[in-house]
Amino acid sequence: MKKVLIMNGPNLNLLGEREPDHYGKDTLESVQKRIAVYAAKYGVETMFFQSNSEGGLIDRLHQARQEVDGVVLNAGAYTHYSYALRDAIAAVRLPVVEVHLSNIHAREEFRHTSVLAPVCKGQISGFGVDSYLLGLQALLGFETE
Ligand code: DQA
Repeated sequence: MKKVLIMNGPNLNLLGEREPDHYGKDTLESVQKRIAVYAAKYGVETMFFQSNSEGGLIDRLHQARQEVDGVVLNAGAYTHYSYALRDAIAAVRLPVVEVHLSNIHAREEFRHTSVLAPVCKGQISGFGVDSYLLGLQALLGFETE
């Protein structure tokens, strides 16, 4: 695992100001810096992408299949209903670990379902920024398929 893409979906650009009780006070920029520093300790290069649109995330995933060895994905609310994103994950055949800052299973019922989870290697939910670091750690166990 040499290169990992960390993708964030809708509204995650507002981290730090958006519902801090659920998502913490760190900005996306500071979260990304922390991930990059952590990854570097394992010799892993990181790339980052955030989009508020489903198509933007899908296009970036398609591009990633030539570029990276794995993906850590926080798809935000798309997690719960985007079959298009699910199909894209299945199509690219990269190991993808689904992550969430909050524990989606302890929140509103609509968040309990992830349509992405069946095509991801696994799901990490509820550990704040550490969810991304744990996701990266999980990816280190996979080679490109
Ligand atoms: C989230 C949880 C989702 O339900 C929500 O829509 C988000 C963030 C999380 O990181 O906890 O945007 O993915």
